[in-house]
Formats: sequence, C-alpha cells, structure tokens
Amino acid sequence: MSVRSTRGRRRLPVIAAAMLVAAAPAVFARQPPQTPSTIAVIPRPMRMTPRAGHFRLTPLTIIWTDTASAPLAHQLARYLAPATGFTLRVRASRALPSRGIVLRRDSRLARLGPEGYRLDVGPSRVVARASRAAGVFYALQTMRQLLPPEIFRDAPVRPDNFSLGRKGVAWNMPAVVIEDQPRFEWRGAHLDVGRHFMPVGFVKKYIDLLALHKMNTFHWHLTEDQGWRIEIRKYPNLTAVGARRNETIVGHPQRDPAQWTFDGEPHGGYYTQDDVREVVAYAQARFVNVVPEIEMPGHAVAAIAAYPALGVTGAPIAVATRWGVFDDILNAEPSTVAFMQNVLSEVLTLFPGPFIHIGGDEAAKAKWQASPAIQARIQALGVGDERGLQSWFIRQMDAFLTAHGRRLIGWDEILEGGLAPNATVMSWRGAQGGIEAAHAGHDVVMAPDSYTYFDRYQSRDTSAEPIAIGGFLPLDTVYSYEPVPAELSPADARHILGAQGQVWTEYMKDPRKVEYMAFPRMCALAEVVWTPAALKDYGNFRERLVTHLRRLEALDVNFRRPD
Ligand code: ACM
Repeated sequence: MSVRSTRGRRRLPVIAAAMLVAAAPAVFARQPPQTPSTIAVIPRPMRMTPRAGHFRLTPLTIIWTDTASAPLAHQLARYLAPATGFTLRVRASRALPSRGIVLRRDSRLARLGPEGYRLDVGPSRVVARASRAAGVFYALQTMRQLLPPEIFRDAPVRPDNFSLGRKGVAWNMPAVVIEDQPRFEWRGAHLDVGRHFMPVGFVKKYIDLLALHKMNTFHWHLTEDQGWRIEIRKYPNLTAVGARRNETIVGHPQRDPAQWTFDGEPHGGYYTQDDVREVVAYAQARFVNVVPEIEMPGHAVAAIAAYPALGVTGAPIAVATRWGVFDDILNAEPSTVAFMQNVLSEVLTLFPGPFIHIGGDEAAKAKWQASPAIQARIQALGVGDERGLQSWFIRQMDAFLTAHGRRLIGWDEILEGGLAPNATVMSWRGAQGGIEAAHAGHDVVMAPDSYTYFDRYQSRDTSAEPIAIGGFLPLDTVYSYEPVPAELSPADARHILGAQGQVWTEYMKDPRKVEYMAFPRMCALAEVVWTPAALKDYGNFRERLVTHLRRLEALDVNFRRPD
C-alpha cells in the first residue's frame, strides 16, 4: 500500500461550562482588571498593541456607522443582543463620534488588503475601519472575541443586580489596537453531506463557526456514491432515487464481505434549490463563499442508480450502502457529458462564486478497461488510455465552466492524463499534486490528508474515542501545517491560494459528531491560513484556546477537549 492509500478514507480501515462570574457578595467589588492576557483572539491577529483600560458595552452604547457599513452595524447589534439583552441603537454618522462603537469604510486601509481591518478599542470608543466590507466583518468577529465568552450565549446571561448585591458579566473589551489581515485568500472548510445528510440548520451553524474563525470558503461536498443531495429540476430522479439508501454498513467494512453488517435503516435527505439559495445567502452575509462539489466521473453510484444510462453497462444499481471506492463510474458518451453539463447549468444558477468543484478523485478504471464501448471511445477521441479519457472528461467540464465565466477546481487526480487548461487543483494526496500544478502555473488549494483530514482519530488510544476512519491527526499536527511547500519558488508559491480542512462523514452520523471531529482542529487550521507564519506559536495558541473553548461551549459546539 502506498502512503496515499493508508489514509484509507475509502479503503478498508485496519484499524459543557463555567458561564457565570462567581457571585461574590461584595456589592462594591470591582471587575478584575482587564490585562493583555485576557486577549485571546483566534486566529491570532497580525499586529496587536494592548492599551490601558477597557471599553464597556452598556444598554446605552450606540453603534455609529457610515452608509456602506450599515448592514454590518445591524449585524453587530444582532450578534450582541441575545447574551446581553441589549437592543443597541444603530445611528448614521459622518463625523467620528467620541463615544460608542464606530464602523467605517476607509480606503486608506487598502494597505491591509481586501479582508484586512484596523480595530481601535479605547475606554470611550471602539473604532473598526477597513477598506472593504469583509474587513469590517472581521473586525466584528474580533470584537466578539474581545468580549467575555458568554457573549456567545443565546439568551441573556445573569445581569448585574445591584439591589441584590449581585454582579453578573461585565461586557468589557480590553483596550487594544489591532491591525490584521489574512495570510491566504482561500481559508476553507469542507463538509461531506453525501455519506450522511446534514440538515440546513446545521449547515448554517457550521458557516457561522467558519465566520467566527475568519474562514471564508465553505466547500459543500454534495454528491457521493451513498447519496445525491442537491435538487436538480431537469433530473428529478437524482434526488427521488439517488438521495436515499436502504441501509448503512455498521462499523468498519471488513475485508470479508460475509462479515459486513447493516443497520437496516434507510438514510436520506437532500437540499431543495430554495434550501441551497438560503444557505448561499446566509454564507454571503458572513463573507463565506460556497464552493459546491458535483463528483464526476467517479463517486457517482447514486447518480447512476438514478439514471443507469449514465453508467458503463446501463445495468441498474443501488445507491451504495457501504464505504469504499466503487468500480461503477460514469461513461463518456456525449449524452453523459451533456447530462453533467446540464446539472452544472442549474448549479451555476444557485452558486454565484467563481469556483465549481467537479471532484475527479478516485475514479476507478476497471469498468472502462473492460468495456468495448469505452475502449472504442478512447480510440475515437484519440486520448490514448483511461487516464486520457478521464482527463478528456474533465476538460469538457473545464471548457463548459470557463465559457460560463467560472473556474473548475478538482482533486489532484485531475492532473493524471493532463491537466485541463483553466483548472485549479485541490491537493489531497500530500503536497505533490499541488507542487506539480503550481509548477505548471495552475492555482492550488492545499488539503493534504495528513494535516487536514478531520475524519482521522484525535487520540492514539482509539478505544477511548468514537469510531473514526482510522489514522491519527492530533491538534498540534494540524497547527504545525505549512501550506506553502518548501519546493516552490516565490513565483510558484503565489499559486497557493490557501488551504482547507476536510470533514468526510462516513463515521459521522449527525452534527454532534461532525462538531466533535472538526473542533478544535478547525481552530488550529484557521490560524494556519490566517496568521503570519512567524507569529504561529502552539503554546500560545493553547493558552488562547482555553478561553476560546468557553466560546465554543457557549455556542453549544460539541468539540473534543484537547489532550
Ligand atoms: C479524497 O479524499 N478522495 C479526495
């Protein structure tokens, strides 16, 4: 077995909170002074200068905004309302008010890039400035993290009550000046909803969590062997048939099929186009770009189950009920290319972002090899062999997406047989595919399994952990990841758009399990893709993480407590 296959995603694997400040009876007790150590922002900002004192949020605090930032001013008021119980007023102002929270677009801040911001917290005033809306939004995320972790609760936490001599949470932000901007433009998290369907409500929660960590890309893995999860109006069977499987294998698949056991419970679900629009709008409001993935030509069992003519033999098959790499694969007839392009046409109407992911990974070639029709097609197209045919298939999609003003992205197998001209490569089998693509002048997103696959175990002692696919990926390893391979020249390194964390859900039946696997590893990855490399410090991250985990507790995230 190669290193790649030992990852074993589709191989047979061998293997709650202190929310209240203590209620001291001292009516006159002062809040503990805010010190720089209370600043625990994740991901760590680029520059931070603590100042004396703090800003105190009260029911009378006004959020002053310029016209361009008004939606974000209301967003801030909404963020702060549930836990504080304050309905903060939002007011327009051109001049710089001397008190309150001020949001400003400021072209001078263009030096911090399209997502950068400056945040000045002083005793009487908080000023967030950025050249673009995304920067203002990230300033809000930092503000939330400067407040006590209880700010993330969904209902008012115990308020001050002087007549009872009781002190609740004081909504203080430590005074500080922060200038911040991300290291990478692609700060992503993937979620596989094919293996297990995840409800819209959870998808939104996931997007909220990404935004909190200043991540800006949600890679929505929508189609799989075990389920097709997006409504396509032209092809209703994709969801009528492909969105449901009869049952699911229990535990790791043994080598001997006779030992497989199944749960006997149907599993299904899909997103209507209205659901998709809702998720995309929700993400846009949080500066998260959604990248849909429609897998082809492999990982297409559910599609073939829905429309057998898409397969190599035309024989009916069932939506897959176990995990692994399947021999069933799309054929390469013009009708099948047209079918997938029609699917993409509907996808393009739903997803406004530049990138469309077409999968391309683990496309088993056995059925293509055995099929006289496919062999004739290889001859007719003059593409040499099955790899050439896969490359041809992807090039059809590349041409289609390019003609529609979009960019194709695919897993690194799309390099095999020749890379499509405008393709971006997602490098998962280590860094090699990314290096090769960057050398060839293509953009790259790093997603190497050994650092960014959050389906792996978080402990060496797997007996103490819920079942996972295998492998071992602890928090410090994620944190240590450097997305730019040392092999790349500075010019080629510019092709590394960023990196992302993968959440494959074979062994994650529900949102609670997704949260357990994704957090806090996603917190570490957020710092990998945002923070300047020179500022990365695992010990310092772990100190900040203590406070940050209280935030995740307040948000009811079922994270795994790190060792
Ligand atoms: C993959 O893990 N097959 C992209």
